[in-house]
This record gives sequence, C-alpha cells and structure tokens, in this order.
Amino acid sequence: MNPIKHVAVIMDGNGRWGLKNKKSRNLGHKAGLKTVEMIIKESIKKKIKFLTLYAFSTENWKRPSSEKNFLFNLLETYLIEKLDELNRNNIKLKVIGRKIFSQKLNKLLNYAESKTKNNKTIQINLALNYGSKAEIVYALNRLKKTKGKITEIKVNQNLYTYKIPDPDMLIRTGNTSRLSNFLLWQLAYSEIFFEKKLWPDFNSNDYSKIINKFKKIKRNFGNI
Ligand code: FPP
Repeated sequence: MNPIKHVAVIMDGNGRWGLKNKKSRNLGHKAGLKTVEMIIKESIKKKIKFLTLYAFSTENWKRPSSEKNFLFNLLETYLIEKLDELNRNNIKLKVIGRKIFSQKLNKLLNYAESKTKNNKTIQINLALNYGSKAEIVYALNRLKKTKGKITEIKVNQNLYTYKIPDPDMLIRTGNTSRLSNFLLWQLAYSEIFFEKKLWPDFNSNDYSKIINKFKKIKRNFGNI
C-alpha cells in the first residue's frame, strides 16, 4: 500500500457550479469553501501531512474585478473567522506564491502564517497568485546569484515549496484534464486523478475513493 504524505488539488468548477445552481459564479466560490473545509478535515483523518490547494493562479488576475474582489474577501473573512480554529486543530498554514494583494490581505496572510508556524498535524499550502513558471523563474534568478553548478537539489531549495515533499497525488475536479501551470516541477512523478464532479459537489466519499485507488497503484519511479 502506498503511503500518502502530500495531496495537491486543483479545485476547479466553482464558477460553473455557481451559474448552474445559484445563477452566480461568486456563490460557486462560496460553496467551494465548504469543500475546502471538508478536504482539510478528511485529510487530517487520513493522517496526510501536506495538502496543497490551488486557490488563485497568476492567470486568474485576468478575471473581472468583481470576481477577484469576492475571492479575496472570502479569503479575508475565512482567515479572520477561522484562525483560532486552525490553531486549535494544530494546522499550519503556508502561502505559496507572491503576496501582492491588498495591504490588509497581505498582513492577514503573514499573521496567519506566523501564528500557525509551529503547528504539526497538517500543513496547508495555499497557492495564491501562484504560477509554476513564475516559481521556476524565481528559483533560477536566485540561483544565478550563487556559485557552482545548478543541481536538482539546489533548484528544489529555491522553489516556494522548499522543505515540502513532492505531491504523491494530484486531484483536479471539474472535468478538465490539464495542469494549468500548477507545480510543474513538483508533480514530475505524482499520480494524477481527473475527477468529473465540480469542486463544490466533491465530497468525502469521492475523496476516499481516489485515495483507495492511489493506494493500490504500483509506483516504480522509473524502476521495474
Ligand atoms: C477554480 O474554479 C477555482 C478558483 C479559481 C478559486 C478557488 C477558491 C475556492 C475554492 C474558495 C476560496 C478558498 C479559500 C481557501 C478561501 P473556476 O472558477 O475556474 O471554475 P469554472 O472552471 O467553473 O469557471
């Protein structure tokens, strides 16, 4: 049985869910937040140590301001209301991606990271203003300033995900089969699961089914 340390998720389909069920993309994001809470709870139960959630990409800036502001407000409210609960549950929060939001949101994110930094049950990596290509370019620019040959270890050490093991698996909901500039380096050997359901409809049973499938896969990492 394969052990699972790290699950990465592309939470796709909020907009479509919202339009279909509430006539509003934004209400799809609100519903998606409930699935975020579900997957955190279930990952803790399954003793998974790292959960990475793609919440806002470098490409998502192209969306209308009304949707971006709604998402940032949702995140602000979540942090204000849930920080104590995160701490009580011993959850560590880390942002991957450059924090270039409002002063208020940047501060809140820094505060949440520092208040939870010693927590040990699970680490939630929130990918915000995250793009894998931007991350790799950031790492290469840092490496340019150092001496000696570039190695895989040195690249790893300069990514936003330094000290985080590579994901064992990636789940993408929303019936779309692409990586959308997410963890391109880190997913080199991950098992990938494309799920038809839209993110707000994804439930604990769907999650368990994927985990059980993963556990049965023979992972060779290039060996036989
Ligand atoms: C992709 O669906 C989803 C997002 C860009 C935002 C994800 C945000 C949440 C799940 C809620 C907020 C999270 C936190 C942690 C506060 P989409 O909008 O691209 O869906 P579509 O493909 O149907 O348009």
